[in-house]
Amino acid sequence: MTFQPIIIVGFMGSGKTTVALELASHLSCGAIDLDEWIKQREKRSPKEIIEQDGEEVFRRMETRVLGEVLDEGVARVIAVGGGAWTIAANRKLMTDHAAFVAWLDAGFELCWERIEASGETRPLARSREIAQKLYDERRPIYELADARIEINENESAEETAKKVAAVLAPLRLTGKSPSNIEW
Ligand code: S3P
Repeated sequence: MTFQPIIIVGFMGSGKTTVALELASHLSCGAIDLDEWIKQREKRSPKEIIEQDGEEVFRRMETRVLGEVLDEGVARVIAVGGGAWTIAANRKLMTDHAAFVAWLDAGFELCWERIEASGETRPLARSREIAQKLYDERRPIYELADARIEINENESAEETAKKVAAVLAPLRLTGKSPSNIEW
């Protein structure tokens, strides 16, 4: 391992991808979105994979790709899909790579508002009831993350990223990021 990664987790609609990009820009390091990485590799989006092959197949791919991205040190900041942190094998991979895991804790109403506004049907959140049940089931697992970052709907992704950076600052994570800038 060349450096300690920072992983952004949280429910669908919590803003993981945009916050990860803002954080990377703030820290002058690289960021990737694991779902986007999967899409590039598989030539299908996670939504398509889940709809066509089922969630189990997607989870296996997700774990494999997460392992590769961590082993190869592709980027310092990694946003993962909403379910990734709920899978024990993924949490182990992150621990094995000494990752720092930040949970974007957005309330259900805000997540659901954003899911609806995106206009994209989510295979695992097809209705408000299903999404709420998943949210409630996952919450105790998200609580296992290294840091909880409360999401306020009036706050910009840049402000949230600064809150993550403030939590990280005293930790002195080790190693150089791919852009070769240590912080
Ligand atoms: C999932 C969330 C999605 C994507 C997949 C499964 C989940 O990512 O990984 O559809 O289980 O919550 P986002 O959280 O980025 O929407």
